Amino acid sequence: MSEIKILVACEYSGVVRDSFNKAGFFAMSCDLLPTESPGNHYQGSVFDILNDGWDMLIGHPPCTYLSSAGLHFCNIENHGKKAIERIIKRNQAIEFFLKMYDAPIKHICLENPIGYISANILKPTQIIHPYYFGEKEMKRTALWLKNLPPLQFRLQDDLFGLKTASDTPEPYQITIRKKTGQVKKRYWTDCISEGKLKSGHQKSKTFQSIADNMVVQWGGYLLDAKNRTEAL
Ligand SMILES: C[S@@+](CC[C@H](N)C(=O)[O-])C[C@H]1O[C@@H](n2cnc3c(N)ncnc32)[C@H](O)[C@@H]1O
Repeated sequence: MSEIKILVACEYSGVVRDSFNKAGFFAMSCDLLPTESPGNHYQGSVFDILNDGWDMLIGHPPCTYLSSAGLHFCNIENHGKKAIERIIKRNQAIEFFLKMYDAPIKHICLENPIGYISANILKPTQIIHPYYFGEKEMKRTALWLKNLPPLQFRLQDDLFGLKTASDTPEPYQITIRKKTGQVKKRYWTDCISEGKLKSGHQKSKTFQSIADNMVVQWGGYLLDAKNRTEAL
């Protein structure tokens, strides 16, 4: 078992935690929710354990009030008091993100959709899609990295290796029947499971292939970094 300690914060699924544990690292997940996969899990706030001497933090801070999808609700002229409440929640979400980004942990990856943080506070280190790593979904995912190399992927075969990506996913067309009876046709790329809309809970789960690439690419990087430090 490696001595490297990894905190996977805001993870209820156990996907990233289990992938690192299988590779011999000590990884613990943490979420206000119970874990869906039995294993090392702290059920409670990440801020209770953030300063406990971790080597790496992989965090998925809540994005409801940060993602571009809901930012138009923050217009006070159009949405009045509701917009004010939303701006207050957005500011709390920014503080949450920044406290994790500023944690006393050497290697940090924070994952969030494109939105308020990327547009106004800090540009992400890289933007990936699950299909870059062989999944069927297109879902723009931003990563903010500290002391970690960007995840490598190949959209095409080239001189250095075979492509890791699947073909660019085609959007699905689905019909939404609103409570008002109104019927709308929408295109989705990342939100469908077995022909039905995924719930928010299902949509926020980390894709297995992204977790696998974190383990292979960053696990090796962490071991090298530790060996270099010990050799000094
Ligand atoms: C976008 S979801 C991330 C899900 C993750 N990708 C997974 O595969 O489980 C954000 C999570 O943050 C959790 N959360 C919110 N506040 C938290 C806190 N103070 N400490 C730990 N987790 C928190 C929520 O319960 C939610 O599960």
